[in-house]
This record gives sequence, C-alpha cells and structure tokens, in this order.
Amino acid sequence: MHVLRVDASVRKPGSLSRKIGDAFLQALGETHPAMTVTERDVGLNPPPLITSDWVAAAFTPKAQRSAAQSQLLAQSDQAIAELRQEEIILITAPMYNYGMPAGLKAWVDSVVRKDETFTFDLARGDFPLQPVLSGKTLVLATACGEFGFEPGGVRDGQGHLTGHVKAVSGYLGADRFEHVGVEYQEFADDRFEASMQAALERANALGGRL
Ligand SMILES: Cc1cc2nc3c(=O)[nH]c(=O)nc-3n(C[C@H](O)[C@H](O)[C@H](O)COP(=O)(O)O)c2cc1C
Repeated sequence: MHVLRVDASVRKPGSLSRKIGDAFLQALGETHPAMTVTERDVGLNPPPLITSDWVAAAFTPKAQRSAAQSQLLAQSDQAIAELRQEEIILITAPMYNYGMPAGLKAWVDSVVRKDETFTFDLARGDFPLQPVLSGKTLVLATACGEFGFEPGGVRDGQGHLTGHVKAVSGYLGADRFEHVGVEYQEFADDRFEASMQAALERANALGGRL
C-alpha cells in the first residue's frame, strides 16, 4: 500500500485537516503494516505558480524542449512521478475563502499536465480530455470554520473546496473519491466538538476499510 500525502494547511500545530489525515493514516497503517507514505507539504512549501513560459514548456513535445524548458518543468516532473507510483492520494486541506488553499491549487496546476496526466484529442468530441492514470483512491480530509455547505445546507452553493478537488480527481488518476470533513471550527462549541469527533471516527473507519 503506497500513499501520497499532500497537506495544504499553512499551519502545522493545531491543523484540524492534518489531524483527520493522521487518523486516517494511522488506521490504514494498522490494516497495511507495509504501507509507505510519500509526503508533500504544499501548505508549508507551496510549489511555484505556473507561468506563461511554464505552459509553453509543458505544451512543447518533450524531444523538442530546450534545456531551460526542461528545467522549468523539473519540479512538476518530480510531483507527477510521486503521484504516479501511489495507490492512495490523501489530501488534507482547509477551506480558505470558500475554496482550496493557493498552495494546493499550485500543486494541482503542476501535476495536471498534457501527455503526463491527461491526453487531449478532439476526435473524442465534446470531452477531449482523458486521464492517463487510473485505479487510485483519493481521500480528501477538510476543515472549515463555518458550516452548511452541503446540498440543502445554509451555505449551499458557497463552498468550492470539495467539489473542486473532486472535479480534478480523475486527472490525478482517482476512480474513487472519499471525503471526510470537520465544520464549525470558528464557533468552538458543542457542534464543533461533535463534528470533529464524527470526522475522526469516519477517518478511522475509512482507513480500516481501504
Ligand atoms: C485565510 C483563511 C481563510 C478562511 N476562509 C474560510 C472560509 O471561507 N470558510 C470557512 O468556513 N472557513 C474559513 N476559514 C477557517 C478555516 O477553514 C478553519 O480555521 C480550518 O480549521 C483551517 O484548517 P486547519 O485547521 O487544517 O488549519 C479560513 C481560515 C483562514 C486562515
């Protein structure tokens, strides 16, 4: 069992999303004692943002790239290599301003790359993009300060973290998507305590199941 763990909170001590991820991995490790984990902390060490030169390099066929272009893609190559070898992708992420943290978005932009993680062919009609990787499970552990982002909830339509990660999960090679999240962090009341307890229990159960 090989896991790629991507942490996106800018804080380490006190991070709830990381704590849920820890609970999941603890249970998974008990089920799979030979489990290996590759860690990429995009919260504390965000990847560089993509640029016009980066996009030009990514869209230049490998054999025709200049040395400078290959160098520009080196970090992305490394991140894709890490992604390729893992069966489970664990992403731990806070909600920042109703979406994913910038470090996580920078990581997604660096690994979703033509001819590496997706191919593009207009012969496929209205859906020209097709993932290259497959067979992975993506587990998303989230934390947010507010609550009620689910369908029918009091903030239905405002939360774009889980939906966004789910939308790109296919290009990361995930056929299966699981979400565990805590809400109410900003209220620090009984609702938060119950939400955290439920998230930890669910993370634990999920780790025991996979
Ligand atoms: C910059 C910033 C933006 C935030 N934006 C939101 C938000 O839009 N909605 C929300 O529910 N919580 C928001 N929060 C609260 C965090 O999601 C919450 O504190 C969460 O527990 C952070 O994750 P962590 O505990 O893993 O660090 C924000 C927090 C920060 C620091």
